[in-house]
Amino acid sequence: MMSSAPEPAAARRGPPLYLDYQATTPMDEVVLAAMLPYFGARFGNPHSSTHRYGWEAMAGVDVARGHVAGLIGASPEEIIFLSGATEANNLALKGALMAAPPARRRLVTLVTEHACVRETAAWLGHQGYDVVVLPVDSDGLIRLDELDTVLDDQVALVSVMAVNNEIGVAQPLAEIGRRCRAAGALFHTDAAQAFGKVPLDVEAMGIDLMSLSAHKIYGPKGVGALYVRARTPLAPQMHGGGQERGLRSGTLAPALCVGFGEAARLAAARLGPDLDRLWGLFNQARTMLEASGIAWRLNGSAAARFPGNLNVSFPGVDGARLLADLRGLALSSGAACASAVGKPSYVLDALGLDKSTAQATLRIGLGRPTTADDVATAMTVIVQAVREQTEVAWRR
Ligand SMILES: Cc1ncc(COP(=O)(O)O)c(C=O)c1O
Repeated sequence: MMSSAPEPAAARRGPPLYLDYQATTPMDEVVLAAMLPYFGARFGNPHSSTHRYGWEAMAGVDVARGHVAGLIGASPEEIIFLSGATEANNLALKGALMAAPPARRRLVTLVTEHACVRETAAWLGHQGYDVVVLPVDSDGLIRLDELDTVLDDQVALVSVMAVNNEIGVAQPLAEIGRRCRAAGALFHTDAAQAFGKVPLDVEAMGIDLMSLSAHKIYGPKGVGALYVRARTPLAPQMHGGGQERGLRSGTLAPALCVGFGEAARLAAARLGPDLDRLWGLFNQARTMLEASGIAWRLNGSAAARFPGNLNVSFPGVDGARLLADLRGLALSSGAACASAVGKPSYVLDALGLDKSTAQATLRIGLGRPTTADDVATAMTVIVQAVREQTEVAWRR
């Protein structure tokens, strides 16, 4: 069975350095430990209200609901558990438009939203709703003057993401929320990349609906939540036993909910220090790129952002070759999802980047396990790979 051939060099070097924290995060061991009993002795159906097995399972779910709610200043009853942010975004957009008064048939959203908001908005457009997609400025931020021009008494819902998954920019949620309130429109935010990472408060920010996901905050995949402000009219998209206040039928997965709650509890306890540490790493990476002398640009506002995302373009470089040269780093290109279908990133396009610069882009994700040494290693390798390409091109 054993081969006498020498081990390939790639195998000896160990796993690539993980720098793709926007795609997902590794689950915290504390989270896993909290989940395990719900795969064993606490196996009850949380909706069984006539015996201890059901009560035990629901008790775990309720504790989790409290932790998730606490992190955004909501009440536990306002948290609807579901499968993730994709489902939450679908429920928020379809549910709000379908339940809106007949005179309010407009959805306002942003060009840089995640595909699950963009595609849902497009589907609603095909159903006859009026969909307005706002542009962003060259920093990736919403233009509030543009929002003002479209916000009127025909708007049912404004959906603007909290932190962008590709470029990390943080939208001015409180200012958007204030405008929505004044116009009588509901305000939804996709906070999959913001929840547990930057401070969020549904009251202070005037948010009515907020989409959340567990696997972006060191929790399990397959669970998320929609925050639904009390008395917000919403048409359910999943019909059945009437679980989750009738908004999302189906038996909850207690282990996943408990894991999500535990991840939220841990995130709440360390949000401030985590954020400070990530700013340190972000600034370290920028300083190293600046000192290197190579040509590069940061995509998205340098200040209004989540610092665990560093999206950089290297003009004149072949992006596909760069990624291939960086096999020791597990990261994605800014155009990663889109490149599979041969399209450049619509987010970078919205910032005004030309196609060739957009394809020469890396999204470097920094997370809780990332150290200063990791950043130094990554930057050294990236700078070297960029130099190799540009110096060869220069010599030709
Ligand atoms: C901004 C944003 N919205 C929605 C999603 C979808 O989340 P989920 O994987 O929980 O469905 C993601 C995940 O990639 C995201 O980054």
